[in-house]
Amino acid sequence: MKTLKDFNFKGKKVLLRADINSDVAERTEKILMSERIKEASKTIIELKKQKAKIVVIAHQGNPGKEDFLPLKQHAKFLNKFVKIKFIDDIIGEKAIESINNLKNGEAILLDNLRFLEEELDIKKIPNRILEILAPIFDIYINDAFSVCHREHSSIVLLPKAIKEKGAGLLLEKEINSLKKISIKNCLYILGGAKPEENIKLLKGKKVLACGLFGQLCLVATGKNLGYQNEFLKKAVLIKGNYDDFLKKLKEKLVNVEIPVDFAVNFNNKRKEFDLKDFPLNYEIEDIGKKTIKKYSEEIKKANAIYMKGPAGNASEKQYSKGTYKILKTVSKCRGFSLIGGGHLSDAIAAFKIPIKKFGHVSLSGGALLNYIAGEKLPGLEALEK
Ligand code: 3PG
Repeated sequence: MKTLKDFNFKGKKVLLRADINSDVAERTEKILMSERIKEASKTIIELKKQKAKIVVIAHQGNPGKEDFLPLKQHAKFLNKFVKIKFIDDIIGEKAIESINNLKNGEAILLDNLRFLEEELDIKKIPNRILEILAPIFDIYINDAFSVCHREHSSIVLLPKAIKEKGAGLLLEKEINSLKKISIKNCLYILGGAKPEENIKLLKGKKVLACGLFGQLCLVATGKNLGYQNEFLKKAVLIKGNYDDFLKKLKEKLVNVEIPVDFAVNFNNKRKEFDLKDFPLNYEIEDIGKKTIKKYSEEIKKANAIYMKGPAGNASEKQYSKGTYKILKTVSKCRGFSLIGGGHLSDAIAAFKIPIKKFGHVSLSGGALLNYIAGEKLPGLEALEK
């Protein structure tokens, strides 16, 4: 696989696929500053130094979900690290004109790629990403390891359509770190809103389920969480039928520990309830102290740990206790610890836990999980071919 050092970028039009998909503050449309944005800026800075004409493409959220937003706010955050102009267009006249007017060393960020159906549906014809964008560029750089498990146009088709292709600094760093990981006899701590990924690791090894995933496991066993039952349907990302997924999940819940208490939003204050007190008419925001204690004991015994997804709503201080305590215990774990996903890397930075306390902190959630589950990543294959 080629990396930045293998190219002469001077005066070349470079299409850079980055992952700046970030957390959104609850019940707002406000993007939160993320480690992904900070890291993505490094490749842009390097390409600017090398006098490329840089066009960054990226996504935010998924259609139909609350986090499905334009990239204007991301550009503002990126500008804290590198000068880049936001263009509220992807394949229209405005975008093409801006690309054609780029001078050496300048960068623009186009809008959310997932606004175009053909980004998510690679079989859609015509594919405007391929027909309009691809012919303009000399070099394609993929710096979005965290999206490499997705068969999306920008990940698997563009590298085939643009003559030269290679990996950005972050993608290169992630791959090199993964070569060194050792997670045999690993305890999995799985959270997050993408349960279809987590289910791939439910193969009888010990799992501590937390966050939205932990709640979903409970619902799958038939527990009624009250208000949260409906909230989960909207919040989690499941491609197929929700009820069918729950049935499948129930069958896989072997050796999976599920939370025994929760912290809820009780008139905007944290209040903890035992599982037996549910159903309740409150939104669940975190795991409770009994679950934290129970999980911490398991973590202390573990030889190696892989954690994906937060234990609760970690971006709000009063609900970040579960994620903080679990991460803190993991950071003292005697074996190798691998942390994955945008939420957790942001949480580690916010809690100021030194990153060197973990074996490896990846900015990637699903792609890393697929890698651990032994699956091939289509985005990496497309770069290698
Ligand atoms: C992530 O957040 O894991 C990546 O940005 C990929 O996003 P996706 O799971 O919505 O495809």
